[in-house]
Amino acid sequence: MSAKDYFKNDEYWSKHINKNLEEDLWIDEYRNYFNSKGKCLDLGCGIGQFSKQFIKYGYEVVSADISEIALNKVKEFNKNIIKLDIRDRLPFKNSEFDLVFANLSIHYFSDKDTKKLLLEIKRILKDNGLFVGSVNAIQGLQIIEKEVQEIEYHFYEYKDKLMRLFDVNDIKNYLADFDIIKIDERETIRFEHKKNYIIFIAKK
Ligand SMILES: C[S@@+](CC[C@H](N)C(=O)[O-])C[C@H]1O[C@@H](n2cnc3c(N)ncnc32)[C@H](O)[C@@H]1O
Repeated sequence: MSAKDYFKNDEYWSKHINKNLEEDLWIDEYRNYFNSKGKCLDLGCGIGQFSKQFIKYGYEVVSADISEIALNKVKEFNKNIIKLDIRDRLPFKNSEFDLVFANLSIHYFSDKDTKKLLLEIKRILKDNGLFVGSVNAIQGLQIIEKEVQEIEYHFYEYKDKLMRLFDVNDIKNYLADFDIIKIDERETIRFEHKKNYIIFIAKK
């Protein structure tokens, strides 16, 4: 793990473990896209509020994250947890999942690692399987502009941490190998703060 990783040493979840995240359960608004059949991977699941919801929908959910603190919380309602680093080869078989979900968890990586990850997601999805998620939108840059350094196109170092901000074109480019079904720009409240993000629904 690099010193600039956004999530070093579980620091993030040590601070936020007891926060209420039910407020941004946006998948309910897109319920008709989820057929509730089969296996779902919640990649970068955090404390698992989306995992919990997908279980309620009827999916068999595997909750995966790098943070042990967060996974311990998920264990309270899902025994299918796995600790992994998204940048590595994903420890799943080809075509294992009907749905791969990644909420605000794939925007911390270099262009090379992001492209590698998307190939991995495609590999583990069944044909016609869905890749759904959200990423931080470029509008967020306005708030932190003075404190960031762009180290790659739309990839920033901010307070000694790395993060990527997306515009709609970035999503289209990164998802070029998928059929894009929907892209929505939205605003949410997370940890009591406003946040701009982009939702995508894509099919293998
Ligand atoms: C902003 S949180 C989102 C968590 C959850 N999906 C949600 O919506 O609340 C980002 C998550 O990505 C995880 N994460 C960050 N880098 C990761 C990596 N390299 N491998 C696996 N998980 C990672 C973090 O531990 C964290 O739980």
